[in-house]
Amino acid sequence: MKLTDAQVAQFHKEGWLFLPELFTPEEIEILRDESAAVLGSNRQEIWREKSGAPRTAFAAHTYNEAFSILGRHPRMIEPVEQMFGEKVYMHQYKINAKAKFDGDVWQWHQDYATWMRDDGMPEPRAMNISVFLDEVYPFNGALMLVPRSQKHGNINAGHDTSTTAYPLWTLDNATVEKLVAEGGIVAPIGKPGGMLMFHGNLVHGSAGNITPYSRRIVYLTLNAVSNAIKKPTRAEWIAHQDFTPITAVADDALLQYARQHKKHAAE
Ligand code: SIN
Ligand code: MN
Repeated sequence: MKLTDAQVAQFHKEGWLFLPELFTPEEIEILRDESAAVLGSNRQEIWREKSGAPRTAFAAHTYNEAFSILGRHPRMIEPVEQMFGEKVYMHQYKINAKAKFDGDVWQWHQDYATWMRDDGMPEPRAMNISVFLDEVYPFNGALMLVPRSQKHGNINAGHDTSTTAYPLWTLDNATVEKLVAEGGIVAPIGKPGGMLMFHGNLVHGSAGNITPYSRRIVYLTLNAVSNAIKKPTRAEWIAHQDFTPITAVADDALLQYARQHKKHAAE
């Protein structure tokens, strides 16, 4: 899948791009079903909120076939290859649950802050590309982005290990206030199947979810192969060290898998 010139220009200017309903309801249904199994399982890759509700499931592409196909899907891989002008590998893969009633905050941060400091990533030539598994509303913990904040490069950050179950390099309020005065805040919302990509230095965060609507989003962090990490400090299943370029599957691979799965379940 190729992005149009207008889409590429929007990404370069604003630091993000949202394509609503890019995956069909049939493709999303299998991912929703499988995510319930993944998030409910008892593995070290599943991190939980203080309440016990799932927060993040890492590396589901390594042990779940539907998520493995999504991790090689051309609608996810090709736009990022296009932006970087080279092949990419999987740096990180996560399903963020933002559970109904219990989904906690993600403080304001830049992703490259962590990739640089914790993983030794040379340049911000990786990015998150994500798919909505649930409808994202303005009120169930939508991801908030500060447009154009990527232009500031890597901003000074503090390490916060106390607030939530996920340690992050977070930005202070004065910095966020200044960036928001310049760029405002956008929060892409919409039906399951929407795809959002954003620059590694784009400032973002999300509020807690006290609604009865869960907000599951899958994030692939794709890194340019020339930008492989040099000093990993995190577990392999958090920051991968397999730098093999991803070969995309056929565009209908997830759909075919969903249909086969349904057929087997009915037999
Ligand atoms: C992230 O910043 O990596 C995820 C935030 C979210 O899922 O709300
Ligand atoms: Mn992030």
